[in-house]
Amino acid sequence: MNYQAFVDEQVAFLRQTVGDGLAINALSGGVDSSVVTALGHRALGKRLKTVFIDNALMREGEPERVVATFADLGIPVERVDARREFLSALKGLTDPEDKRNAITRTFYADVFGRLVRESGAKFLLHGTILTDIEETVAGIKRQHNILAQLGIDPQKEYGYQVLEPLKTLRKDGVREVARVLGLPPGITERIPFPGPALAARIVGEVTPERLATVRAATAMVEEELADSGAFQYMAVLLEDKATGIRNNRREFGQIIVVRAIHSVDAREATVVEIPWPTLHRLCRRITGIPGVNRCLYDLTPKPPATVEYV
Ligand code: XMP
Repeated sequence: MNYQAFVDEQVAFLRQTVGDGLAINALSGGVDSSVVTALGHRALGKRLKTVFIDNALMREGEPERVVATFADLGIPVERVDARREFLSALKGLTDPEDKRNAITRTFYADVFGRLVRESGAKFLLHGTILTDIEETVAGIKRQHNILAQLGIDPQKEYGYQVLEPLKTLRKDGVREVARVLGLPPGITERIPFPGPALAARIVGEVTPERLATVRAATAMVEEELADSGAFQYMAVLLEDKATGIRNNRREFGQIIVVRAIHSVDAREATVVEIPWPTLHRLCRRITGIPGVNRCLYDLTPKPPATVEYV
């Protein structure tokens, strides 16, 4: 496939479809939404408004990093601080599906839905890829009808249109398009990261304190395992606690699990054989996080485990 030609075609399609109207898109920093943002701006310039919704669940420095990366590319991204809304929607929830639903609802129905209406945009650019469509059809993924999720009824509120310029591509194709568009390797070569972000790695309630703990551990894992060749690596905070000793005192502390997997497409996965010295270093660093006194390494393949814990 000629990816330069693909870019030219999609740019022409977006220009023709949006005309002199306004479009909006939400950027997460993942490769799909990053490519849509770059493609959309090439086609529409200022007629595309791009928002980055800070949901309080991001990795260390992520909102700043994403906004700065696009600023370097000459693409303005508006950071929307929705941390309180997400945290209050998650308060008291411990069931994995309840947590995921709260995040989806807050994102679409509350925050992004409001931004779409306020912007006056009638076109929404969305980074749906072919695999998303196939998995939705096969019942693996939940139905992703973005207008329905935004609470917009196309019958009643005529005029909203969703544009999905990547819907014929798979992940490898999206990465090729990213290279044609000049996106930096920091974006195109990133390891996968789930939509519910760090909430997928907190078993039990998501609170600011528990987020701070898993965020700190995640930064350590990402530093130590960057050159591991793994498909994905992460830190997870468990709900259980365990007894430990610190400064000659017993403490009932938190438990962090480190997980690193080999995989091709995340449908199946096997554990990465991390060298012991690296694991020991990680354990030392992670048990230096306040309140954490145990660090475990997860050996479980997928199946029977999933990649994420929530
Ligand atoms: P699981 O946990 O289902 O994860 O074995 C498979 C792959 O998908 C990622 N993942 C998600 N990605 N939204 C996403 O965009 C999600 O809700 C989500 N849940 C899991 C996970 O990181 C892994 O790569």
